Amino acid sequence: MPIRITSYGIIAGAIALFMFSGVSKAGRDKPESPEEIQKNRTLTMKTIDKAMRRIRVLASKGQWNQLAATAKDISGLITRIPELSPEGSGFGEKSRIKPEVWLNFSEYEELSIKSSFAALNLAKLAEGGDSGVMMRSFVDLAKTCRACHKPFRKKKKKRRK
Ligand code: HEC
Repeated sequence: MPIRITSYGIIAGAIALFMFSGVSKAGRDKPESPEEIQKNRTLTMKTIDKAMRRIRVLASKGQWNQLAATAKDISGLITRIPELSPEGSGFGEKSRIKPEVWLNFSEYEELSIKSSFAALNLAKLAEGGDSGVMMRSFVDLAKTCRACHKPFRKKKKKRRK
């Protein structure tokens, strides 16, 4: 008797697994809407920004290993920027991506590579624990953000009061 229950369990599990994989596969096949792409890109940028602020805190506490790990995370997120920016994916009023991105996509990609390397460099220096050199490298990394924002990100609209 227990054996039968178990086998029912296995069958039920197999059916659930089959259905679940079907659902998740359909989810993957469906292309993302411009709205979803926009959301993802904004979220990624916000995550990068938070991590940059975290770096300042970790530096003030001398937590170099965590700082190195955070810088590596930032590097990984930055490499994803081009794939998060498919043609025409500016969506909604809040979007600040400029159409110039798709006229100069190779430059956009290059700026993302440079920025992600700057983050890796910071990680390497943090592992060495030399805070002076490291803070300069942090400033260099922040410059690579601006290097992309200047040509490719619209200025923030001023809110009307
Ligand atoms: C290769 C280009 C590129 C690089 C490198 C880059 N960004 Fe961005 N960033 C953009 C673009 C484009 C937008 C506008 C995105 C949008 O509105 O769809 C943006 C938007 C943002 C925003 C605004 C998000 C919001 O709330 O709408 C923040 C914050 C930000 N970036 C932080 C950073 C930081 C910090 C770095 C560096 C560590 C960085 N970015 C590196 C291209 C880049």
